[in-house]
Amino acid sequence: MTRSLKLPGIAYGGDYNPEQWPEEVWAEDMRLMAEAGVTMVSVNIFSWALLEPSEGTYDFSRLDRILDMLYAHGIAADLATPTAAPPAWFFVEHPDALPVDQDGRRLSYGSRQTFCPSSPAYRAAALRMAGELGRRYADHPAVVMWHVHNEYGCHNAECYCDVSAEAFRAWLQDRYASLDALNHAWGTTFWSQWYYDWNQILPPRATGAVPNPTHQLDWRRFCSDALLSLYEAESEVLRAAAPETPATTNFMVNFSFEALDYWRWAPALDIVSNDHYLRSTDAESQIDIALSGDLVRSLAGGPWLLMEHSTGAVNWQPVNRAKTAGELRRNALAHVARGADGIAYFQWRAAKAGAEQWHSAMLPHAGTDSQIWRDVVRLGADLRALAEVRGSTTPAQVAITWDWNSSWAMELPSQPSGELRFLDLVRSWYEPLWRAGVQVDFVRPDADLSPYRLVLVPSLYLVDDESTANLTTFAERGGTLAVGFHSGMVDANCHVRLGGYPGAFREALGVRTDELFPLLPGQTPTLTEGGTGTLWSERVRLEGAEAVTSYTDGPLTGVPAVTRNSYGTGTTWYIATHPDPTTLATLLDRIRTEAGVAPVRTTPADVEAVLRRGPDADYLFLINHSDESAEVPVSPGAVELLTGKPLSGSVGVPAGEVAVVREPRRD
Ligand code: GAL
Repeated sequence: MTRSLKLPGIAYGGDYNPEQWPEEVWAEDMRLMAEAGVTMVSVNIFSWALLEPSEGTYDFSRLDRILDMLYAHGIAADLATPTAAPPAWFFVEHPDALPVDQDGRRLSYGSRQTFCPSSPAYRAAALRMAGELGRRYADHPAVVMWHVHNEYGCHNAECYCDVSAEAFRAWLQDRYASLDALNHAWGTTFWSQWYYDWNQILPPRATGAVPNPTHQLDWRRFCSDALLSLYEAESEVLRAAAPETPATTNFMVNFSFEALDYWRWAPALDIVSNDHYLRSTDAESQIDIALSGDLVRSLAGGPWLLMEHSTGAVNWQPVNRAKTAGELRRNALAHVARGADGIAYFQWRAAKAGAEQWHSAMLPHAGTDSQIWRDVVRLGADLRALAEVRGSTTPAQVAITWDWNSSWAMELPSQPSGELRFLDLVRSWYEPLWRAGVQVDFVRPDADLSPYRLVLVPSLYLVDDESTANLTTFAERGGTLAVGFHSGMVDANCHVRLGGYPGAFREALGVRTDELFPLLPGQTPTLTEGGTGTLWSERVRLEGAEAVTSYTDGPLTGVPAVTRNSYGTGTTWYIATHPDPTTLATLLDRIRTEAGVAPVRTTPADVEAVLRRGPDADYLFLINHSDESAEVPVSPGAVELLTGKPLSGSVGVPAGEVAVVREPRRD
């Protein structure tokens, strides 16, 4: 967080939509928020239609009452600009602000986030609304943060209309300056795609065969930037009105959302916040929480806020599972362990009507005589007990590269294998580190790598020259670099790096591949050191590296599947297949042990250990995901913060429970 919230301790709350309820209900809300220990709520997120009944006519009376009531009850407001859901009248007056999909269908209003991100009418209306709110509430004592919009791009990351086409061309002119440069970058001599006039360039609308890859990649970059410019414009208006109030917008670093390049977004936010939801079918969603938390903390460069998650089931998956006993608490405290200085839910009170009537909330349909309510109250007490953890950060010796450009490029059609998913590849490398209790940061490929001993590159299909030099120099100067298959293949324009694979990393890895042999589902060649490869294989030739394990069957019998090389004063590894999970875990354990990376604490299986380090103390979070109670050794002088009990020698963590131990700093 570049700025911090003017609130003590760990913030606690959720989205609060009192406008959806009669005012008699509000008094009960205030009473119950006090009971739960709520300190901050996000308001006004979807209120545009009530605030501006017709263009330029405003009615802020209800919002005035809401903010005054919150202030009177000591609850801070994260005040949203309601620009994610323009009212019906707006679209009746500006039908061309409705988005058009890839097949040319113009969508209709009637839900939310159905507007064209490049629409001048939308931008003007959104900025007018932000200006009104900024002026009116800049000095309201309840307001501690601006919540700009809501989940940019959640439903409208791409619009293919003519207005977007115009904006895309302007973006391209800015990037390439000349048509000649664009034609070369896109390789448009292929399939007669050469452009002679900027006006000939369209968004990658539905077409008969595979569209140009660089065209599609630039489109993704443009779409992310188009939404970012809306965020920047709104937050500038708010900053002008209230320079002291920090602004955020809620990211969606989550299993299903990859439309925005958050490395470009994060510096524009005063405080980074994120929304995280579990996938019902993920049997180990605790790993997804950890991965997403580490990524958000890395984007923020420190503590961040969890703006939304769910107390129980969501309503937008095929089957929406409830949380099991203790899961709400484990989930929330796992986010705190990964750097969250605030925990909030969608939403405070479960809705009676509307598309989200079957979504869980802090206060369920059943009311306070419910497990969720009891858990919510208990969590409030937990967060109060963890107040001193606020602001502490998590030291890591391992960095994992994460790059949206590369993930977009690798998942384009017409690849050697259509089976590769960036997030799955990263998670498969992340999992063994999570199980071992090793802390990691995520980094841009061009980030400063000097704090790390080990840099993992599970998937980096696209890499520019600067990042290539950054990563290989890290190894040359003594670091350990491990690279996964299908990395370093193309440059920033998506052009293949010639002379053998894996192009950019060939020399540093001491290998050269002349042909790729992607594996079909079910094809699992065995390896000399045990285990099997899946997904991918390639005809690797050693050019300085040693083979760590090789294929024992199939067309590549005898060919290395994993290699190790001395490079400068460091070490590089090439993982040229996707080993089965046990083999990959053994390999990554060896790589990190040789690199001198230790876990934060050795714990029994499925007891997650995470460290936050404050100026005067270490905070060891122990989350027991297993069915058995665990005993973990602690330092002399340690205290368990959730119970306030001093510890002597060890801490007990019952099955499904959490302990947070304050210890003297160990560094
Ligand atoms: C989020 C959104 C919330 C709510 C929630 C339901 O994507 O920001 O407004 O819809 O999902 O899970």
